[in-house]
Amino acid sequence: MPMELRPLGKTGLKITPIGLGCWQFSQGRGFIGKVWSTLDAATIDAVVKAALDGGVNWFDTAESYGYGKSEAALAGALTRLGKKPGDVIVATKWFPLLRPASSIITTLPDRLGFLDPFSIDLLQIHAPGSLSSVEKQAMALAKLLKEKKVRAVGVSNFSAVGMRKFHKVLTGEGFMLASNQVRYSLIQRKIETNGILDTARELGITIIAYSPLAQGVLTGRFHDDPTLALKVSFGRRMMSGITRAGLKKTEPLVRYLQETGRKYSAAGVAASATQVALNWLVNFNGDTVVAIPGASKAKQATEAAHCLDFTLRPEEIKEIEALSRK
Ligand SMILES: NC(=O)c1ccc[n+]([C@@H]2O[C@H](COP(=O)([O-])OP(=O)(O)OC[C@H]3O[C@@H](n4cnc5c(N)ncnc54)[C@H](OP(=O)(O)O)[C@@H]3O)[C@@H](O)[C@H]2O)c1
Repeated sequence: MPMELRPLGKTGLKITPIGLGCWQFSQGRGFIGKVWSTLDAATIDAVVKAALDGGVNWFDTAESYGYGKSEAALAGALTRLGKKPGDVIVATKWFPLLRPASSIITTLPDRLGFLDPFSIDLLQIHAPGSLSSVEKQAMALAKLLKEKKVRAVGVSNFSAVGMRKFHKVLTGEGFMLASNQVRYSLIQRKIETNGILDTARELGITIIAYSPLAQGVLTGRFHDDPTLALKVSFGRRMMSGITRAGLKKTEPLVRYLQETGRKYSAAGVAASATQVALNWLVNFNGDTVVAIPGASKAKQATEAAHCLDFTLRPEEIKEIEALSRK
């Protein structure tokens, strides 16, 4: 079933509720890139192909995902799969740590070099931490919009207050803040209470949910085989509660996601815990939330792209809600 497109903020761009997260393409380079194991080009091509075949129309990468390795791997895969600039939407991020806002502009040629021949549809500030004020960062983004060097701009890991500051400067320059990319999943729901989701709804900003599967926890694989927890990086175990205590806490929810998936599968629509978790995430808040699950295997990307092939029943949503709140 093809996914229906959703607006990316008020930018006029239309995206599928599920994009593909490309952190996994970092090829082990750099501190951030080491969280995932290294994928070869054939695997990356297969993952990107599976996402495209499943109807996904956008991809999220970043400078810090292997200092250009992920951007280049994505561009290479898209090119080998016959995609041309404009066929898909490409989002990337500038890394702000200990850098002034001017580096948003001076590093743009590097981003475009790695993404060649693709251009940047959405340029995001990866996180707070720049040496410059939010105002200066927003003005640098506005300059790139004015010069049509990027089509839309967003932030990531910013608070509700930060979103408002960016929004104010950008609207003053005649533009919009398209998105805030934040951690959001059935077991990480802080944005529902810290003002981020409310601000997004009020200002028409899209929430891009990262780690939507809690880095694999919500797939059930670590609950089914806890020894797998020891095979993933320490950083990932700590970030996502892939520990004995963490898995015990999330077990009732994950078992229910698996059981719900099995019910749909028995009725003829293949569904898994992964798909139930993603389906809930991109539907629970109307059009405001989209998700970018990462994948290191083609079948994971296929599964994610087909998470909307079924409609959750109200009683299932209620039960997921209750177990998730616990
Ligand atoms: N802006 C930020 O600060 C920020 C932070 C984190 C992530 N992100 C973005 O968000 C994207 C997604 O987040 P994430 O990668 O942290 O977490 P995620 O999407 O929750 O988890 C992805 C991992 O879950 C496992 N998985 C996925 N589908 C599966 C399936 N069907 N069955 C079993 N396991 C499955 C895979 O692990 P294995 O590879 O071990 O098989 C995969 O690499 C990233 O790629 C990145 O683009 C952004």
